[in-house]
Amino acid sequence: MFQLLLLSALVAQGISALPGHLRPSPSLNARIKRDEYISSEGYQISGEVENGTSKARFDIPTPELTLDSKTLFSLDAPQIDTINGSVFDWWYFDAVSETNPDDSFVITFFASSWEAFPFLNESEPSVLTAWVWASFANGTVFADFVPATVATVRGADVAGTNSSGEWASTGVSWEAKSEDLSRYEITIASEKMGVEGRFTLSSHVPHHLPCGIQEERTTLEVAPHIGWVSLVPDAVGEVDVSILGSKLKFRGPGYHDKNWSDRPFMDSVASWYWGHGRLGPYSIVWFSYFSLEDPTNTTYVSSYVAKDGELLVSACNSSFLSVRPIGSPGTTGGRYPPRVGDVPDGFRLEYDLGEGNGQLNVNVTIRRLVTGDEEYYMRWTGDLTGEVVKSGDERPPGTCAGQKTAKITSGLIGVAVLEQFLLVE
Ligand SMILES: *[C@@H]1O[C@H](CO)[C@@H](O)[C@H](O)[C@H]1NC(C)=O
Ligand SMILES: *[C@@H]1O[C@H](CO)[C@@H](O)[C@H](O)[C@H]1NC(C)=O
Ligand SMILES: *[C@@H]1O[C@H](CO)[C@@H](O)[C@H](O)[C@H]1NC(C)=O
Ligand SMILES: *[C@@H]1O[C@H](CO)[C@@H](O)[C@H](O)[C@H]1NC(C)=O
Ligand SMILES: *[C@@H]1O[C@H](CO)[C@@H](O)[C@H](O)[C@H]1NC(C)=O
Ligand SMILES: *[C@@H]1O[C@H](CO)[C@@H](O)[C@H](O)[C@H]1NC(C)=O
Ligand SMILES: *[C@@H]1O[C@H](CO)[C@@H](O)[C@H](O)[C@H]1NC(C)=O
Ligand SMILES: *[C@@H]1O[C@H](CO)[C@@H](O)[C@H](O)[C@H]1NC(C)=O
Ligand SMILES: *[C@@H]1O[C@H](CO)[C@@H](O)[C@H](O)[C@H]1NC(C)=O
Repeated sequence: MFQLLLLSALVAQGISALPGHLRPSPSLNARIKRDEYISSEGYQISGEVENGTSKARFDIPTPELTLDSKTLFSLDAPQIDTINGSVFDWWYFDAVSETNPDDSFVITFFASSWEAFPFLNESEPSVLTAWVWASFANGTVFADFVPATVATVRGADVAGTNSSGEWASTGVSWEAKSEDLSRYEITIASEKMGVEGRFTLSSHVPHHLPCGIQEERTTLEVAPHIGWVSLVPDAVGEVDVSILGSKLKFRGPGYHDKNWSDRPFMDSVASWYWGHGRLGPYSIVWFSYFSLEDPTNTTYVSSYVAKDGELLVSACNSSFLSVRPIGSPGTTGGRYPPRVGDVPDGFRLEYDLGEGNGQLNVNVTIRRLVTGDEEYYMRWTGDLTGEVVKSGDERPPGTCAGQKTAKITSGLIGVAVLEQFLLVE
């Protein structure tokens, strides 16, 4: 039934439902040109692995230093022209409960072969899969996926839509409900997974690009060959779904990003820490990464902090953020740089908030393993505690000359979703 409806919807809009290359509208020629990712009718991605070389986009023009709605859509559009066996492109959405971070929900729309991202299911031939992960308050975790034959991603200039993506015919899709990509709705009606319901994000913070918005051209490459944009760094997430007959309903910090690469994940990554959360008025995202075979041993970071919805930091300068694992005595959990199998108890984050804003220190305490093999990959929910330290030279009466004063705002608490990939033995 669903399939029939979808097919007729596609036919009505003049889009072929047959698998094929990722196709901009028929009016554009087969291959997407740099900076011309926008089409009038959307893109199609085939479930089959394509032959030949793929091309990824890793920067956008930003002459105005702002992101207009065309640019925003281009950021939520496919960033790879064709999905061959060694590239990946995906759209990720999550939320964690603000009252009990044991409740969480993640949905990811993948366009990737298993060879390019071996954390997928090896026996699934389609490069298109929609994955759901959920954790319940009592400790039960759920993970499953459903393959698609063709995906359609549309943008703001298709009449009546903003950004939307449909993995046909899985019953799973996303749709942006506003032109500025601050509100999203994900609908799920999948018999195969036994999941149905709705997940919405409503954001009140600016978008995050790996290094913020730069003059003339802005990079989307957070580390060599790794493209990343976080269109929703923090949002009010509302999950109301039924999973194998069990209800999961909560509200809490939500998030949406997408990442992509023009080569296999395992060819790039040595270690990867990422997370997002909210504590008090602060919305935070962290990323800290070592690249494989990097003679310069660079720490790639990306740091994002907004306070009450106002941007404080959106940057990739490694002196603005430090992310370090914390482990129990007698374990390798706190080893840095980390190696395969290191399981931390939490992380210590130190954000430089820039001129006059001080430093935000956050302790992340791991709460629940939601998915992962406990060796190479782990995704958790976590609790956050934090403080802001401002050191000033202004001298209150009664202090000695040269004595610095520190103003500390402590007692910030919150919740997070975080993950690590460790690929060096
Ligand atoms: C890719 O090439 C293989 C081997 O020639 C062929 O079997 C397959 O159908 C091709 N795939 C596509 C999507 O054209
Ligand atoms: C896919 O495209 C990438 C990027 O151009 C290229 O390096 C790679 O060799 C291609 N992979 C295959 C399997 O053709
Ligand atoms: C891969 O998917 C198949 C079919 O859904 C399933 O039977 C199998 O257990 C999955 N493999 C893993 C490693 O999860
Ligand atoms: C797209 O965004 C506009 C403006 O924000 C909104 O009025 C409209 O309802 C949105 N379209 C959909 C399909 O949600
Ligand atoms: C945990 O909660 C889920 C959702 O309500 C339920 O399906 C499951 O049976 C519970 N598991 C245990 C071990 O109580
Ligand atoms: C990449 O994708 C993962 C999903 O596995 C997501 O959790 C993460 O936010 C993304 N991060 C970066 C830096 O690409
Ligand atoms: C690489 O850099 C990290 C962080 O700066 C440091 O802890 C580590 O010792 C360095 N490793 C090597 C091999 O130099
Ligand atoms: C990073 O920040 C430090 C300290 O503010 C500054 O000295 C350095 O120039 C910055 N690096 C880049 C690449 O902007
Ligand atoms: C973080 O943990 C350390 C070590 O337990 C503790 O000294 C510090 O006060 C904590 N900071 C915050 C902000 O919770």
